[in-house]
Amino acid sequence: MKRLEGKSALITGAARGIGKGFAEAYVREGATVAIGDINLDAAEAAAAAIGEGAYAVELDVTRQDSIDAAIATVVERTGTLDILVNNAALFDAAPIVDISRESYEKLYAVNVAGTLFTMQAAARQMIAQGNGGKIINMASQAGRRGESLVAVYCSTKAAVISLTQSAGLNLIRHGINVNAIAPGVVDGEHWKHVDSMFAKLEGKPIGQKKAEVEAGVPAGRFATPDDLTGMAVFLASAEADYIVSQCYNVDGGQWMS
Ligand SMILES: NC(=O)c1ccc[n+]([C@@H]2O[C@H](COP(=O)([O-])OP(=O)(O)OC[C@H]3O[C@@H](n4cnc5c(N)ncnc54)[C@H](O)[C@@H]3O)[C@@H](O)[C@H]2O)c1
Repeated sequence: MKRLEGKSALITGAARGIGKGFAEAYVREGATVAIGDINLDAAEAAAAAIGEGAYAVELDVTRQDSIDAAIATVVERTGTLDILVNNAALFDAAPIVDISRESYEKLYAVNVAGTLFTMQAAARQMIAQGNGGKIINMASQAGRRGESLVAVYCSTKAAVISLTQSAGLNLIRHGINVNAIAPGVVDGEHWKHVDSMFAKLEGKPIGQKKAEVEAGVPAGRFATPDDLTGMAVFLASAEADYIVSQCYNVDGGQWMS
């Protein structure tokens, strides 16, 4: 028996990287998955690559009309929304004295407000359906402690952990489980971007920051999205019915809590 048979899922920011990996895993487990992304062309390409069971939905998590339209599309297409993964996020890095208000507002709009208001819209739909649901928020080890050059991103991920705790407590009465995953470092486009930012900020050649970070991972390597899919499927499945407001580290041993 597949673990997500007949379920309808929406994954935000799933056109590439971790979200795309989750979409593949959910489809393998029998779910129908909406690849929600601000980049519709990339979402369509991801859905086509995954094949039957995946479809693209244009979604900008910073806009309420876009969130509402995406959820309406999912319900129109599959009749229900059972699983939401709040995965879309932006990253930036700068010393405290150089952080711009524009960068702060962009990161908070996507990582915090996007997570909260997509979660809210999904919860409203799940409550109306009356069958509970599963919401998984993508946090990060960055949300467990600050980093010298990453104040804003780290604080958005701490906010995601806190929102997960409150929303989980508030929504479990409706049978909706809200939990989070805190990855460590996951290879892909995101880390290419992080490495090039640190190259500029710390005057290092391209690739050096990534190699230094990798050397510090107890498991000895960066994760791939596949390293995280076990937790993502588990938290979306009935096996997680009694798990409420938790944030699980899947990080090769980088953080213990
Ligand atoms: N990669 C890592 O090392 C790592 C580590 C810890 C946590 N995470 C978290 O995991 C999640 C996925 O990370 P990733 O590495 O796959 O990211 P990524 O940058 O590769 O992908 C993010 C996706 O979000 C989409 N997106 C951006 N703004 C959006 C918006 N306003 N509305 C909808 N979609 C939008 C992008 O188009 C992109 O497809 C993020 O929440 C990230 O913070 C990543």
